[in-house]
Amino acid sequence: MIRLDGVTRTYGSDTSLVTALGGVDLEIGAGEYVAIMGPSGSGKSTMMNIIGCLDRPSEGDYHFEGLEVGRLPDRDRARLRGRVFGFVFQSYNLLPRLTALEQVELPLVYQQAPNRRRRAAEALVRVGLRERIHHRPSELSGGEQQRVAIARSLVVNPRLVLADEPTGALDTRTGEEVMHLLTDLVEDQGITVILVTHEQEVADYAYRTIRMRDGGIVEDTARREPATTNGATPLEDGSPLDPAAPRPLDREEVTPRSVEEIPPRSVEEIEA
Ligand SMILES: Nc1ncnc2c1ncn2[C@@H]1O[C@H](COP(=O)(O)OP(=O)(O)O)[C@@H](O)[C@H]1O
Ligand SMILES: [Mg+2]
Repeated sequence: MIRLDGVTRTYGSDTSLVTALGGVDLEIGAGEYVAIMGPSGSGKSTMMNIIGCLDRPSEGDYHFEGLEVGRLPDRDRARLRGRVFGFVFQSYNLLPRLTALEQVELPLVYQQAPNRRRRAAEALVRVGLRERIHHRPSELSGGEQQRVAIARSLVVNPRLVLADEPTGALDTRTGEEVMHLLTDLVEDQGITVILVTHEQEVADYAYRTIRMRDGGIVEDTARREPATTNGATPLEDGSPLDPAAPRPLDREEVTPRSVEEIPPRSVEEIEA
């Protein structure tokens, strides 16, 4: 699904150059559940932003479903963000004046999708907010606001959900609720989830942990196989990841020539 080859991201000019990411190679397959850890400033958010097409590599290639998306025009990248990716942030990023229902409807408004109200309401029910759909952020707890943000990420039926410190602003118990929701996405809905966290207990939900330092990956360990429709298979604890191992949900390699050719989720996948 995702392949980074020598991805570098630098900020600033020659005189004050900051290398946020220094030549990262990484593969993530469909159905994986990945936690990214590492000290503050190690490049976690930079890498997430590149994967989510919110930012571009300064050097190196980024292939998504076989398509080099790092250098696509903004328009195509925006389309990919809107149709294929879901985003969840530490600070929820909700709009203060909108109700939960309106927040979740927004990505569908941009897409001019049909049945927006109904789909938004269904997404909110999926995250357990049936009773809160007409509340504004100020009338919701932190955990509820993050669940609205998760519903907003799900309403487009994404293939991949990117969550940057999704429990960072929540207490332990509320954080656990959010992690159960993200885990359900992988195990029940076959969505690939990549999350950033500082907390080992949060990372322990994921099947694979990547540790970063100084803009590079210093450790990459898998605990379980990627999810399939039969659920995930436990691996021996901490066994090193075999990059050549097949990824169960990977489709046949057909390289798309445009963003439109990246397959949307099939009805079977969505309803599974
Ligand atoms: N917009 C920016 N301008 C300049 N430097 C940046 C910018 N964004 C990030 N950096 C630098 O890149 C490095 C990695 O940042 P980041 O990816 O946010 O780390 P993390 O998410 O692991 O805390 C840090 O040294 C940070 O200061
Ligand atoms: Mg960060």
